[in-house]
Amino acid sequence: MTTSCIIRGLGHCVPEKRLTNADLERMCDTNDEWITTRTGIKERRIASAGETTVSLSHQAALKALANAGIAAEELTHILVATFTPDAYIPSAACMLADRLGIKGRTCMDISAACSGFLFAIETARAFVCLHPEAKILVTAADVVSSRVDYSDRSICVLFGDGAGAAVITGAGADFPTGSGRVLDVLLATDGSANDLLTVKGGGSGSPVKPGETVGRSFFVEMNGREVYKYAVRAMSGICQTMMAKHGLNNDQIDVFIPHQANMRIIDAVGSRMEMPAEKVFTNVQKYGNTSAASVIIALSEAREEGFVKDGDMVLLSTFGGGFTWGSALVRF
Ligand code: UT7
Repeated sequence: MTTSCIIRGLGHCVPEKRLTNADLERMCDTNDEWITTRTGIKERRIASAGETTVSLSHQAALKALANAGIAAEELTHILVATFTPDAYIPSAACMLADRLGIKGRTCMDISAACSGFLFAIETARAFVCLHPEAKILVTAADVVSSRVDYSDRSICVLFGDGAGAAVITGAGADFPTGSGRVLDVLLATDGSANDLLTVKGGGSGSPVKPGETVGRSFFVEMNGREVYKYAVRAMSGICQTMMAKHGLNNDQIDVFIPHQANMRIIDAVGSRMEMPAEKVFTNVQKYGNTSAASVIIALSEAREEGFVKDGDMVLLSTFGGGFTWGSALVRF
């Protein structure tokens, strides 16, 4: 039975519209200096009317399919990791299949907040064990702006929108140049921390009745300090566990791509792991925290820019609401 899978193609898509720190200064009581020193974020991309989790996923998917040299018709499964699907029913994955013009496939969404991409990759890894011929499209996408209250300065400066996609197959005999072999994935959750980072409104625990206006609970609520501390411990811990499991030290990791939540978290995780800064890929400065999309956009961009080269050992890590966190090891 195969236990690894291959990333054959990558792609990403972010909205055209930029929301800069200067724009935010005009929208709420904040300033560029605070945002830059606390988060490292300078701007983020925000969906325009008609741009949704499914439409951004679709654009990212077309790039990943072209990159993989695989036609949409060949896909057997579609997984979409998101906490901002276009609708509760149908799933974003079913809607994405329709946009791609395919029917009759196994399509489903994965809910793991900012860790969604790694939870989806692990699910894809399980699918290729059951179905070695599977060709799986994974997208991780969020239009976080649809759940951000832009009068809440503690939240609105942090997030942006975007999508990333990966085409996954089983680890059969061929390994086309440019592919990445997923060597391992570790995942973890802690539901007792659910109140620290949450969007409750509209769920069955906080239903909305016709005619009611939505309250603050409809938008992202977070205890930033507690999330920060937990995220640093969780991401560095699970990466160290992954490296110990495979007998790896920092010299054997070529590129580290942590969840792009903010620079202070990235720096703190890197420093706990004693990871040289030049091995750490970041793009949080220009996209903010794109939730589930963050790590896959970063991986796709790092590949495109040549930051991740053929032969590189790449360590990925995520952290999100739930709490959820994870780590993956990929050899390109
Ligand atoms: O996927 C995981 C997603 N979560 C995260 O990435 C969040 C992790 N947390 C963090 O990165 C940090 O906690 C934040 C960047 C969110 C906040 O930084 P902090 O150093 O923890 O600030 P704080 O929340 O303790 O607030 C410090 C001060 C407060 O003012 P007072 O009470 O000291 O007068 C806030 O009201 O900063 C104020 N503040 C702001 N000021 C200007 C909060 N947000 C802003 C803002 N602009 N946007």
